Amino acid sequence: MATLRPPLDAAPAARHDFAMTETPRAPAHPIDPLFTRRWSPRALDGAPIAEAELLTLLEAARWAPSAYNAQPWRFLYARRDTPAWGPMFSALVPFNQTWAQNAAALVVVLSRTISGPAGPDAQTNRWHAFDAGAAWASLAFQAELSGLAAHAMAGFDAEALRAALAVPATYDLHAVVAIGRRGDPAQLPDPLRAREAPNGRNPLSAIAAEGAFRFEE
Ligand SMILES: Cc1cc2nc3c(=O)[nH]c(=O)nc-3n(C[C@H](O)[C@H](O)[C@H](O)COP(=O)(O)O)c2cc1C
Repeated sequence: MATLRPPLDAAPAARHDFAMTETPRAPAHPIDPLFTRRWSPRALDGAPIAEAELLTLLEAARWAPSAYNAQPWRFLYARRDTPAWGPMFSALVPFNQTWAQNAAALVVVLSRTISGPAGPDAQTNRWHAFDAGAAWASLAFQAELSGLAAHAMAGFDAEALRAALAVPATYDLHAVVAIGRRGDPAQLPDPLRAREAPNGRNPLSAIAAEGAFRFEE
């Protein structure tokens, strides 16, 4: 069995404790607490973050693994109260705007869908989305380690955002990630406040099996 590191920093967990006690996230096998400590809150405190703090999260994403080390991920970011914020925030669906207005930054996660030069002979990179997912996960775990929260959103108008940010057709837009420090859930509208707690997971036996496929078709 792998030796587990002690928690890297107990302090962030304490800072994030608004609802943690109500839905314990108990792993069925020993893992670093980082994995259950990370979750996606909607209550954010509205405080700004320095660009350097944001770059630390993107730096973690940069070191993700990728097929052929192609590094197909790209990130476009905006901090609140900067000119770049408006186009990204406007593309979010109203539900996400209600809470993401208190994010300190938004990060659009994209990936290049082709390998090599663009053009009629361009080769599709089959792993671009898989690799972008790995990079986003690195960003999210670094956010937790940095005392920040990262909350991915698929609820945005992808074509409007593509146009607003001049993203070429050779890139897919996957998610917009809201980043900020956790805030008080009391600030959320009623239905969101009730949901503001870490959720659970399917049992390991439902997602991992030795040998052949034996899950729901
Ligand atoms: C690709 C992706 C898209 C998501 N889209 C939204 C969204 O539009 N709005 C939202 O409030 N949460 C969104 N979420 C957050 C998920 O609901 C959340 O990650 C999931 O319930 C697991 O909870 P946890 O991240 O707190 O562990 C998204 C997450 C991912 C990874």
